[in-house]
Amino acid sequence: MNDRVAIIGAGHVGAATAYALMLRGLFPEIVLIDAITELAVAEAEDISDANALARPARVFAGSYADAASATVAILTAGAATQGTESRLSVAARSAAIVTSCVTQLMAAGFKGILVVAANPVDLMAWTAFRCSALPPARVIGTGTLLDTCRLRQAIASRLNVAPETVAGDVVGEHGDSEVAILSSIRIGGLTLEQFAPGMIDGAALAREVRDAGYKIITGKGYTSFGIATAAVRICEAIVRNERVVLPVSTLLTGQFGISDLYLSLPCVVGAGGIEQVLVPALNEIETAALLNSASTIQKAILGLTTP
Ligand SMILES: NC(=O)c1ccc[n+]([C@@H]2O[C@H](COP(=O)([O-])OP(=O)(O)OC[C@H]3O[C@@H](n4cnc5c(N)ncnc54)[C@H](O)[C@@H]3O)[C@@H](O)[C@H]2O)c1
Repeated sequence: MNDRVAIIGAGHVGAATAYALMLRGLFPEIVLIDAITELAVAEAEDISDANALARPARVFAGSYADAASATVAILTAGAATQGTESRLSVAARSAAIVTSCVTQLMAAGFKGILVVAANPVDLMAWTAFRCSALPPARVIGTGTLLDTCRLRQAIASRLNVAPETVAGDVVGEHGDSEVAILSSIRIGGLTLEQFAPGMIDGAALAREVRDAGYKIITGKGYTSFGIATAAVRICEAIVRNERVVLPVSTLLTGQFGISDLYLSLPCVVGAGGIEQVLVPALNEIETAALLNSASTIQKAILGLTTP
């Protein structure tokens, strides 16, 4: 039944996601939807050129009617940030785009799982959840999965080990208030300090991870490959019903006393979307930072909903 994935927004993130999905061979059909039809057509044709040398998929530009039967729809249409502009600063512009796309998607009869990548992603996932009327388990924000990949990669390169051997998460907002849970990082069961005594400056590490997106945007104007891979990983967990734990943005319902907003915590992801939201062990400083992150998002929601 996992025949089709729809990607709404065929810009940098949407195109990279379509290409990565095609290489992964997860879906036989990939439909690209964009306000600029010629762009969606051109990206679909460019990606289709790889068909003869990859696992073939039918990649085409389409409409919301084509997205209705998709198992997963990935929402990448949103306002992109420039330079060091914060993700939250484009919230209103992105919310208008997300609302328009999700309204059309639902009107077409979509019943699948919505994966939201548009920034600010926690607010846009919340916006998509509210206007889709889908159950919260079926609206997933890519959240801090990307930041977690950056954290694992940053530690791996400092310690000269493979990133997959680094266990650790970033939680909270995908943005300036995100929280790297340094206390629970493990490499082969060892803490950072046990593995490499005195070698890692935790504050500098967290800063580097938080600012990684800005650095890339300063260099190339946008980010695409990391987020595309994160979106593909979520699709894979859904299609294969993996029940893998990934830090993604979900509706909180009282975890750490936080509710009614989207924020990243480790979640079990499977065929139903978010199957379970986990409450990680945090120290006092990390808990305070997570609550601060929640309050940042709460204020941004008020900014969005108050005329
Ligand atoms: N969550 C993350 O970690 C992460 C990482 C990178 C980028 N992003 C976000 O993803 C979004 C896309 O970034 P990008 O670099 O691809 O931007 P982009 O400008 O290249 O692409 C956005 C695309 O959306 C399309 N679009 C705009 N309004 C639309 C509408 N109403 N209906 C259909 N299509 C519409 C545009 O035509 C454009 O092609 C941004 O919000 C960006 O901040 C998120």
